[in-house]
Amino acid sequence: MKNIVVLVSGQGSNLQALIDACEQGRIHGKIRAVFSNNANAYGLERARDAGIDAQSVDAKAYPDRNAFDAALAQAIDAYQPDLLVLAGYMRILSSAFVQHYAGRMLNIHPSLLPKYPGLHTHRLALENGDSEHGTSVHFVTEELDGGPVILQAKVPVFAEDDEHDLIDRVQVQEHSIYPMVVDWFVAGRLQMRDNAAWLDNQPLPAQGYAAD
Ligand code: GRF
Repeated sequence: MKNIVVLVSGQGSNLQALIDACEQGRIHGKIRAVFSNNANAYGLERARDAGIDAQSVDAKAYPDRNAFDAALAQAIDAYQPDLLVLAGYMRILSSAFVQHYAGRMLNIHPSLLPKYPGLHTHRLALENGDSEHGTSVHFVTEELDGGPVILQAKVPVFAEDDEHDLIDRVQVQEHSIYPMVVDWFVAGRLQMRDNAAWLDNQPLPAQGYAAD
């Protein structure tokens, strides 16, 4: 069984989708631990409810980002992770941290990357009058929200939508695609090579896997 460690900062609805998928045998791996930079993250409670080790690490206890990330990495590595999954983890990562987990760290970002890296993606999609929005699962590299995309899911944007409508619609898709991609990884089907995502020994296009 491959070891998975998940990082959260907030609600943890994507974490819950991963926990459920592991319990239902849709992910052939085990979530060994969940870490958060926020002691009040509801995601930590979800983990504990599922019997998973859950810990918060307080950034205020460290002099700078590198020291915090080094301590976090040390705590994570005690679980010997094959895969590190960012699920709503809202801290910028140091280069050393990204390099340490290169090729074995995934993130989910609520936009159709490369559109809208960073924050407030749903608001931007609404403000720009986009007719579609969505979410992307990608490998994490040093470029913020810029690593190779593995899989995207699109949702329509309706004229009467507000930001919450769109967040909810995107999250439904996130909960379906993130467990699928995590399983591809733990099954050994997915790799990052030469800054590209490869699935079943085929390089994926820039927008990730696209079913025919
Ligand atoms: C998700 O929408 C994800 O795309 C983004 O942060 C949000 C986290 O939500 N990175 P949750 O904590 O999983 O509910």
